[in-house]
Amino acid sequence: MTVALITGASSGIGRELLDRFAADRIDLIITARDEAALKKAADDLTAKYGVAVTVIPADLARPGEAHRLFAEVEQRGIAVEYLVNNAGFGNYGFLHESSAQKMDDMVQVNVASLVTLTRLFLPAMVARRSGRILQVASVAAFQPGPLMAVYYATKAFVLSFSEAVAEELTGTGVTMTCLCPGPVHTQFAARSNFNHSRIFQKSHVATAPEVADYGYRAFMRGEILAVHGFNNRLLVLAGRFIPRRLIVKLVRWIQEKRD
Ligand SMILES: NC(=O)c1ccc[n+]([C@@H]2O[C@H](COP(=O)([O-])OP(=O)(O)OC[C@H]3O[C@@H](n4cnc5c(N)ncnc54)[C@H](OP(=O)(O)O)[C@@H]3O)[C@@H](O)[C@H]2O)c1
Repeated sequence: MTVALITGASSGIGRELLDRFAADRIDLIITARDEAALKKAADDLTAKYGVAVTVIPADLARPGEAHRLFAEVEQRGIAVEYLVNNAGFGNYGFLHESSAQKMDDMVQVNVASLVTLTRLFLPAMVARRSGRILQVASVAAFQPGPLMAVYYATKAFVLSFSEAVAEELTGTGVTMTCLCPGPVHTQFAARSNFNHSRIFQKSHVATAPEVADYGYRAFMRGEILAVHGFNNRLLVLAGRFIPRRLIVKLVRWIQEKRD
């Protein structure tokens, strides 16, 4: 029995990834706060693919919740072969005007819980010499992001952390993939008060199924870094040659509200 645990499974990219695993007959443990959405997904996946789906609601903004999630999985005697750390959110605005609680929660969900889950599930994978971890970062990881400073910094952390641990895992039989999507049509923009930005008014914003397809393939191939989309890859490359001070100004312009 092969089992995948996916965080942020109630909507968007995470919800789409569930179908990719289930279509490959991989059983699932799914988690997020929205228990009703998780239960609906579980019923749909079991009916469509015949896979077993375990629902464990969790609020990953709460310190200690990642440990509780791990303990529940252990208690059920389930060995997790695939871990997907996808849960995350952003927040638009000047740092000095933003809710301090929201910033704490963002660091807890996007960074601290991701590190804890990775640390807790990894040893068994290494011992078995088999397993894969997918960390969902963003193209935001590659530069500072004025007006979403904490969000961009959390994703830079995820990228750095993933590349470092992926290197540590060389020769262990375990892989770690860092998926970096550009803008994607999900609930993310609305939840981050970010709908107005030039980023989401581009002619082509990716869809969650496109990103899930791409990310799943890269994950199963064990790629270390997976930047979705040709334009995004070009931007990441260009960023290496543009002075950082200029990039920060450019990102601010892109993020600012349009009149
Ligand atoms: N959409 C984009 O443009 C974009 C671009 C690059 C990277 N990403 C990244 O992709 C990942 C998925 O986002 P999405 O675009 O699919 O957005 P989404 O539709 O808003 O999904 C976010 C998921 O994270 C979960 N989540 C949020 N806060 C949580 C908390 N406190 N505890 C547990 N789960 C929590 C949500 O579930 P509940 O609300 O039910 O808890 C939901 O399942 C995120 O890490 C995001 O940063 C998104």
